[in-house]
Amino acid sequence: MVGKDEFRRGMARFATGVTVVTTLDQDGAMHGMTANSFTSVCLEPPLALVCVDLRSNTHRFIEARGAFGVNVLSQKQQDIGSYFAKSPKDRLGQVSYSHRPSESGLPVIEGSLAFFGCRVVDSHVHGDHTIYIGRVMEAALGGPEKPLLFYESRFSALG
Ligand SMILES: Cc1cc2nc3c(=O)[nH]c(=O)nc-3n(C[C@H](O)[C@H](O)[C@H](O)COP(=O)(O)O)c2cc1C
Repeated sequence: MVGKDEFRRGMARFATGVTVVTTLDQDGAMHGMTANSFTSVCLEPPLALVCVDLRSNTHRFIEARGAFGVNVLSQKQQDIGSYFAKSPKDRLGQVSYSHRPSESGLPVIEGSLAFFGCRVVDSHVHGDHTIYIGRVMEAALGGPEKPLLFYESRFSALG
């Protein structure tokens, strides 16, 4: 069987975009988590998935609300990607971002390339993550910036 490090090294060769999965916490405040496990499942109906660590706050909030937002980050939002990759107690320093509520009340991060508002329709626990399958209820496009990428365990840019 392939070991964890070998698997991780191989997966690091798979370039992805970077998203921030947004939810609402127990007080109804915005919560964000950087995620690159986001992918589309099918177009008809519009379904997307994200894999969420069972130990994360985001997992707890998605379980409670049954919904999540996905904000696709632009190259200009690397600081936001780094910020939401930290655990909340380590989210120190100045990171400038603003957000507005989507039609269903999910947080939309301003300046993102695209936003998808999803209602959880299925979930599967495997190992230490849950695969959340969301029905895409809302979608919004931002400006035509270049995407933020993640490759070889670091943020990267096109070209
Ligand atoms: C580029 C990148 C992608 C990540 N993708 C995921 C992911 O898909 N799923 C996940 O559970 N954590 C992912 N993480 C880790 C979370 O962002 C991190 O554990 C975060 O602190 C969780 O926050 P929370 O516990 O407040 O929800 C990723 C981190 C980085 C830097």
